[in-house]
Amino acid sequence: MTGELSPIDKAKFVAAKRAAEMVEDGMRVGLGTGSTAAWLVRCLGDLVQNEGLRIIAVPTSSRTAVLARDVGIKVVSLDEAKWLDVTIDGADEVDPDLNLIKGGGGAHLQEKIVATASDRMVVIADASKMVDTLGAFPLPVEVLPFGWQSSQALIEETLVSMDVMGRRSTLRMNGGAPFMSDEGNYILDLHLKRIGNARQLALVLNQIPGVIENGLFIDICDTVVTGYGDGRVEVRDINEGTVEKDKLEFAEADNLFTDLMD
Ligand code: 5RP
Repeated sequence: MTGELSPIDKAKFVAAKRAAEMVEDGMRVGLGTGSTAAWLVRCLGDLVQNEGLRIIAVPTSSRTAVLARDVGIKVVSLDEAKWLDVTIDGADEVDPDLNLIKGGGGAHLQEKIVATASDRMVVIADASKMVDTLGAFPLPVEVLPFGWQSSQALIEETLVSMDVMGRRSTLRMNGGAPFMSDEGNYILDLHLKRIGNARQLALVLNQIPGVIENGLFIDICDTVVTGYGDGRVEVRDINEGTVEKDKLEFAEADNLFTDLMD
């Protein structure tokens, strides 16, 4: 059954499974959004249902909330949880300092709020997400629908003085209509190609009227768990300066895959 999983799904799964092992009984856990985070939610659901793990979780999107409830995880709001022990989430790009581009799923606003309300952020990703310099992945920027074209023009004008290689931006679409975030906002994807100074760009973008939040996560991620298609995982902690290597088996995961095989 596991043979039907693509190498990329195997990589996402082993990263998620390794990160799930970091969650301890009684913890308050932020749950990310996206396909890798969905594996994490499944792994945690398995631990809750079969190993007696007791956690409360704060999802970062309506999609993740539905999945978490489906797999038996107790879901509360961030205001109810107040502060979290750990948030585990995917990413679109991870640089050597563990700075990130997020928001490929359009959930980076809630993801940033939840991650920064946590003692620790753990990113789970397959190896294709590791980059030397951020920016090949289009940078998502959440904007208010009111006057979004003015905000877009201001963003493009601002980019002229930034250390980036491209300045084109596109409104994210969903079918024939603008994609809407859980908060009812639009997403502009900035095609920057290369971001020379991500810290500066993150600060400057958020000063533009109409910009709600950008997808650059600077100094937020503490640990990255990189998964590979052959089951290898690498855990890198930026605070400890450590890199641990491990290899996980797929066989144990059969019960998590069944509904994906329908
Ligand atoms: C959603 C995100 C996701 O974490 C990011 O897009 C990675 O997704 P995936 O795990 O599906 O590749 O930031 O807003």
